[in-house]
Amino acid sequence: MRKSSLRILDIPSVAAPAARRVEVTRYAPDLPLEQRVSLCEDMQPSLGPGLIRIGLLAMTVHPADLLQIDGRYGVQPPLPYTPGHEGVAIVLSVAPDVDTLKVGDLVVPLAPGGTWRDERVLSSRQVVVLDGDVDVLQCAMLSANPMTAWVLLYGIVALEGPVCLIQNAANSAVGQCVRQLAAQMGIRLINVVRRAEALDGARLGDEHWIIDEGMSVTEFVRRIKALADGRPVPLALDAVAGESTRKLAAAVDVGAKVAVYGLLSQKPSEVMPEDLIFRTVSVEGFWLANWFADPAHRAAAKSAMSALQRLMAEGVLKMAVQQTFDLGQVAGALACAAKPHRTGKVLLTGAWLAHLAEPLGKP
Ligand SMILES: NC(=O)c1ccc[n+]([C@@H]2O[C@H](COP(=O)([O-])OP(=O)(O)OC[C@H]3O[C@@H](n4cnc5c(N)ncnc54)[C@H](OP(=O)(O)O)[C@@H]3O)[C@@H](O)[C@H]2O)c1
Repeated sequence: MRKSSLRILDIPSVAAPAARRVEVTRYAPDLPLEQRVSLCEDMQPSLGPGLIRIGLLAMTVHPADLLQIDGRYGVQPPLPYTPGHEGVAIVLSVAPDVDTLKVGDLVVPLAPGGTWRDERVLSSRQVVVLDGDVDVLQCAMLSANPMTAWVLLYGIVALEGPVCLIQNAANSAVGQCVRQLAAQMGIRLINVVRRAEALDGARLGDEHWIIDEGMSVTEFVRRIKALADGRPVPLALDAVAGESTRKLAAAVDVGAKVAVYGLLSQKPSEVMPEDLIFRTVSVEGFWLANWFADPAHRAAAKSAMSALQRLMAEGVLKMAVQQTFDLGQVAGALACAAKPHRTGKVLLTGAWLAHLAEPLGKP
C-alpha cells in the first residue's frame, strides 16, 4: 500500500486562504445550536521545531459535538472554544527538523483543541499519516466511529463460537461500522432501528432487522430469540438508552452485557432489577476517550487504526454521507446534523479542499 500524498495546486505560490475557525461562544441550551457558534479569523503560530502546519479538508459533525455545544458532554472546554473531534487534513509545511512527514501527506489530526477550522499548527507526533488510495470524506470519519465499533466488537466481551449480538440505532454511522465489521467477523448481528425507512438502501446481504418503535419488551425478546436461532447472545450495544436499554437487557443471555455507549434518547437507561439480580445481566457504560486514555490499549489502538484504514481503502468500511457544508456555513451544518431521520453524516469542509489538484479519491 502506498503512503498517500495529495497535491495542492502550486504551494506556496497560491495565496493561502484567510484561515477561519468556528468558536462556541456560550452555553445557552434555550437558543438554537446555530446561535451559539460564530466564525472568526484564526491566527496560527509560526513553525517552531517539531511542528507542522496542516490544512483541514473535511471535518465531521457528530452527536458528541452537538452534546458538547449543549454543555452536556463528558468534557466541556472553557468558553470560547473551537469544536470538532475529528477530521482529515493535508500537510502544508513542516519545520526543517521534521523528517517523518512531507508536504502533501494526508493526515488525521489527533491533538485536542477542535477540528472545525481551516488550519492548525501542531506537533508532527500528533497526526496519523494515512496510507492507500483513499476517499477524503471517508477518512475524515475514520478515527471516532469505526474505532468505537471496533472496540465494542473486540474489546468488551471475548466472542467465541457462533454468537449473536444485538445493536440499536443500527443505521447510525457507528451502527454501519458495527454491521460491516461483524460481517467480516462472521458474527450474526440483529440490527434494531426505530423506523422502517431506515432500512431503505441500508441492508447488507444476509442481515437481520427489527423495527422496535412501539414494540413491547415481551415481543422484542420473542423476536430476538427467533432471530438468534439458538446462538448465545452475550452482548448488546446500546446507543439509545431509555427504554431501549431495558429491551436489550431482557433479550440478552444470563450473565451477558449491555454496553451503553450513546444517549440518543436523552433518557435515563431503564433496566429491570429482575434482569440485574436473577439473570446477572450487567449494564456498563463505554466511552472511547477513556479507552484511548488507558496506556494498556496503546498497541491495540495502533493496530486497529491500521486495520480500519485498510478496510476503508478496500471499500469494506464505508459510512453514508448526507451533505457537506463549507466552514462558513456552519449554522446550516448544525441545523442539518440535529435533524432526525438523516440519511448519513454531515461534514464541514475547509478552505484548502478547493486547492486540491487531485480528485478526492474513490467515488
Ligand atoms: N461512547 C463513545 O465512545 C461513542 C463514540 C462514538 C459515538 N458514540 C455515540 O454513538 C451514537 C451514534 O453516533 P453516530 O455518529 O454513529 O450517529 P449518527 O450517524 O449521527 O446517527 C444518529 C442515529 O441516531 C438515531 N437516533 C437518534 N435519536 C434516536 C432515538 N431517540 N431513538 C433511537 N434512535 C435514535 C438516528 O436514527 P434515525 O435515522 O431514525 O433518526 C440515527 O441512526 C451517538 O450517541 C454518539 O454520541 C459514542
